[in-house]
Amino acid sequence: MQWNTIELSINKGVGLITLNRPKALNALNSELINEVNLALDQLEKDHSIGCIVIAGSEKAFAAGADIKEMADLSFPNIYLDDFFHLADRIAMRRKPLIAAVSGYALGGGCELALMCDFIYCADNAKFALPEVTLGVLPGIGGTQRLTLAVGKAKAMEMCLTARQMGAAEAEQSGLVAQVFAKEELLEQTLAAAEKIAEKSLTAVMMIKESINRAFEVSLAEGLRFERRLFHSVFACSDQKEGMQAFVEKRPAKFTQ
Ligand code: CAA
Repeated sequence: MQWNTIELSINKGVGLITLNRPKALNALNSELINEVNLALDQLEKDHSIGCIVIAGSEKAFAAGADIKEMADLSFPNIYLDDFFHLADRIAMRRKPLIAAVSGYALGGGCELALMCDFIYCADNAKFALPEVTLGVLPGIGGTQRLTLAVGKAKAMEMCLTARQMGAAEAEQSGLVAQVFAKEELLEQTLAAAEKIAEKSLTAVMMIKESINRAFEVSLAEGLRFERRLFHSVFACSDQKEGMQAFVEKRPAKFTQ
């Protein structure tokens, strides 16, 4: 497949989607969002892929939704087409997604990173939701996912003032899982993704599903859901293999 706005590569069970609109600092236009989804469709169908990484360039993960594309849209245009609904599909993926953020992750770029299961960032990363400076508000989940990630005080402050958050604060606030030197970010992210891809895909996907439940249901329901999934993995050969490998003091070879 010929991509115009992304690059896609596959190695060691990991799919790497690199946003590729350098002249627009990877601003998310409709074509890019569509191509990310097409790539994700392909990677989700392929059971040899155990983890997916979304990365940008060193200067910008993505500088937001494409302002030039949006500027002249009217309410009927965006309401009838449910503008940004395609972006929601990124968050609904079942395989683990890691965002590797270097440089700017602004507006829709920050929201794209927040749709991933966790974020690794470089020491030059800058996160912000500056939509208020454009007379709008975040429209791809920013007010919800940022609040869940960093709490009300920082989410309110960031969305209302458009302040940028740097890498150290992002790690302290729980927005990112780890910070790396920018030269090491991709290598470290791919190494983590490869580790995930070596595991049982069924168990990995159940872990993702179960953690995400914590945001939607009561603790009692979440615990019940987790317990049922835990019971069900005993029907999988990977559970037998994983535990047998421990007993035999050898690395496990997962197949499902
Ligand atoms: N949309 C469209 N084009 C963008 C863009 C965006 N979000 N961000 C940057 N670009 C373009 C610039 O227009 C410029 O193009 P030209 O060379 O054709 O003029 C090119 O990328 C390079 O940008 P700059 O010259 O501005 O680069 P800089 O290094 O001086 O500044 C920046 C970098 C601080 C990120 C600045 O580009 C900027 O502030 N960008 C906009 C950030 C923003 O407001 N993002 C939120 C968008 S709204 C959103 O995302 C909506 C939503 O949630 C629903």
